[in-house]
Amino acid sequence: MDFGATLRRLRDERGLTLRKLANLAHYSAGWLSKVETGTGEPTLELAQACDDALEAGGELVALARARLSGSTQEGVPRPAQLPAGAGAMFVGRERELELLDEHLELAKSAGTVMTVAIDGPAGAGKTALAIRWAHRVAHEFPDGVLFADLRGFVARGKRADPGGVIDGFLTALGVPVDGIPSSIEQRAAMMRSAAAGKRLLVVLDNAASGLQVRPMLLGAQGCAVVITSRRRMTGLVLRDGAARLTIGPMEPAESQAVLTTAIGSQAEDETEAIRALAEQCAHLPLALRVAAEKVAARASYRVADLVGDLATKNLDVLTMDENDFVHEAISSSYRQVDPPAARMFRLLGLHPGPDIDLGAAAALAGQPFTTVQRLMERLEGVHLVEGKARGTWHLYEPLRAYAARCVLEDEPPESRDAAIQRLTTWFLSNPPASE
Ligand SMILES: Nc1ncnc2c1ncn2[C@@H]1O[C@H](COP(=O)(O)OP(=O)(O)OP(=O)(O)O)[C@@H](O)[C@H]1O
Ligand SMILES: [Mg+2]
Repeated sequence: MDFGATLRRLRDERGLTLRKLANLAHYSAGWLSKVETGTGEPTLELAQACDDALEAGGELVALARARLSGSTQEGVPRPAQLPAGAGAMFVGRERELELLDEHLELAKSAGTVMTVAIDGPAGAGKTALAIRWAHRVAHEFPDGVLFADLRGFVARGKRADPGGVIDGFLTALGVPVDGIPSSIEQRAAMMRSAAAGKRLLVVLDNAASGLQVRPMLLGAQGCAVVITSRRRMTGLVLRDGAARLTIGPMEPAESQAVLTTAIGSQAEDETEAIRALAEQCAHLPLALRVAAEKVAARASYRVADLVGDLATKNLDVLTMDENDFVHEAISSSYRQVDPPAARMFRLLGLHPGPDIDLGAAAALAGQPFTTVQRLMERLEGVHLVEGKARGTWHLYEPLRAYAARCVLEDEPPESRDAAIQRLTTWFLSNPPASE
């Protein structure tokens, strides 16, 4: 966008004459007129003064900066903030990587920004996928790659503040600290202006909600924003034109490859045990990587030994340890849902199988179908359960093991017993279809 034309537009919108603006910004009307018509070059100081006078939220400063940096390329910082991700351990997800490529191509041919929100359960590999893809396409974004961990699923107070994140991005793009406005709206506008005419890739990792990421979205053609979250970002899809990519467990061959890559030569000749272990981990990357670590940590411990331990102690081997990543990942989702939804989740740990229908869930909760439908939808929204057919949900094994543990710890025994009673009564009159 042209600086002069933007200045003229903003001045017209505010209903100011050149003379009035000149008074407010302390520049001569003649000089401002030259800048507006493109015969005068705007300095950063002039841009800042007009920005303040017109309350442009940093738009003019960013345009001036973009214009100036265009003539002194070597002085422009090119941020490259991507972390390593799964690095050499990354395996598979070819289809998802291709889908992201397709979204980028689509945005390029439509002349729009690409915005994709990746969602899925805790530890499904959303972050790893986003980082892997970003590394693959980083060369297509000559103006830089920005990355921020929004810490969406840690305790509320520790979540990244959007204003602070944008501040960091603007600084990385070379905006001086004292040129960054204080309000979040102005920062967001400045960020969008800074991205105008540039080719930037932004990765917003582990977002809590659409609300948290909205100020960081870009509008400029040639830019791309990839978001990861456990929450399904319906609002971003409906209101901000984002595409959604939901990931779940890996294909069996892929998840076996995650195990063999992470365990290394110790897993040789254990094809059958690897296959069983991948299955026990429900093909979820975090569980797979934790399992691989358990084996790799002890030279004498075979894959088959872990398979045996998991079979006898259920997934507790992966989830019981307080310091364990699987435990940590799932518990942070559990802690974030509201108390009625959290109770619904742990009661699901009493269900005998991984597929649960509305009737059984309602029996467990002892509540009407409509209430339970809403509770299950809330759990689905953060991928603590996965929706299958209408009125049916699936609990991946690590989640089921975790729910079973929570119901023992957090639900009073009488309430647990009553839930089992109701479920039994429900099953007697409505036997599950598979039996
Ligand atoms: N395709 C993959 N190949 C190998 N390892 C992977 C793959 N995907 C994820 N992992 C590993 O699995 C673990 C969990 O992945 P990641 O952190 O990306 O999950 P996530 O879905 O972002 O989890 P959260 O919901 O907690 O943010 C990490 O150790 C990561 O390196
Ligand atoms: Mg993540």
